[in-house]
Amino acid sequence: MLRVLAINGSLRQGSHNAALIRAAATLLPPDVELVEWTGLRDIPPYSEDDEALTPLAVAALRRTLSAADAVLISTPEYNSSIPGVLKNALDWASRPFPHNALRGRPVAVVGASTGMFGAVFAQGDLRKVLGTIGAVVVDRELPVPHAHERFDSAGKLTDDDVRAELADILRELVAAMPRRAVA
Ligand code: FNR
Repeated sequence: MLRVLAINGSLRQGSHNAALIRAAATLLPPDVELVEWTGLRDIPPYSEDDEALTPLAVAALRRTLSAADAVLISTPEYNSSIPGVLKNALDWASRPFPHNALRGRPVAVVGASTGMFGAVFAQGDLRKVLGTIGAVVVDRELPVPHAHERFDSAGKLTDDDVRAELADILRELVAAMPRRAVA
């Protein structure tokens, strides 16, 4: 079984990005599982002084990333960019830089916001950051604007166009998995 690790950039109860990740889980082929990472709240503020100590939550994140065949990040947009908590976790994940846990790993970025642009600025910034870290970033974005209108009260995605685009991006992500390529 191949594994996509899903990371939500929002810590909010009832997060639209969490709902988008749940929709993604239903669109993967049967031999690919989606595992949601729940450790974002536990990642301490990054400091170079603490690198040698490697906080337990950071070690767990690096292990979880290393065990994943690909990563799906769904991000909200805060003040036209990446939420600080998500950037902070990626800064930890990027170290040690030459052989960090994201290097060479396929990553796709999607995002939902209640605004009219669907977190496009956050997604663009995030793809740039991931490229700098050395991930293999799927060159697509999925803006989900007015997110509060695209999920029902149970958090189920109700927009067929968004579902179709999400499925396309996931197909590209799965195709980029190294083990998939040789299978
Ligand atoms: C926002 N929001 C927002 N939306 C947007 O489209 N562009 C933006 O720049 C911002 N800025 C922003 C800043 C802060 C501090 C907050 C709390 C919110 C709205 C945001 O996208 C919306 O709350 C989403 O629903 C958050 O995603 P989750 O938590 O639903 O996944």
